[in-house]
Amino acid sequence: MISKKLEEAVNAQIQAEMYSANLYLSMSAYFRSKGLDGFAHWMYIQYQEEMFHAMKFFNYLFSRGGRAEIREMEKPATDFDSPRDVYEKALKHEQLVTSLINNLHEIAIEENDYAFQAFNQWYIDEQVEEEESAQGIIDKLDLAGEGGIYWVDKELAARTFTPTNPGEGEV
Ligand SMILES: [Fe+2]
Ligand SMILES: [Fe+2]
Repeated sequence: MISKKLEEAVNAQIQAEMYSANLYLSMSAYFRSKGLDGFAHWMYIQYQEEMFHAMKFFNYLFSRGGRAEIREMEKPATDFDSPRDVYEKALKHEQLVTSLINNLHEIAIEENDYAFQAFNQWYIDEQVEEEESAQGIIDKLDLAGEGGIYWVDKELAARTFTPTNPGEGEV
């Protein structure tokens, strides 16, 4: 059984993951409005991944005798200055999420919840990838320069999302 304290923190994390999903969907809409369909596609996949993160926590709470709660979320930003601005904001956001995931881990250590620590390791590893991929696109944009945005857009169009089971009890 999950402790009340950890259940509360996981519920807050579900909102953070769903907020991330909304933020990336908003970034996808921004790119689409600019005719940058490859960037829009990449961000749409990012949205799907964040919903997957949220659902994995959602299902986990039930498997540990807790319950998930869906709460109100802040409106994400809708306007950005450039593709680079979008990815800088995405990187900053992922750095914040990394600190939230680390904080969850600290609570699980305090609560002696070893099962949660094992489960949360997946998110710790995922955050390394999330920060790396946002930084990687910033680097590509810097290399490509203004005139190379078209080529980066073409490359990002190839991203795929392979959904796996986000946990037991999936409905
Ligand atoms: Fe996430
Ligand atoms: Fe993320």
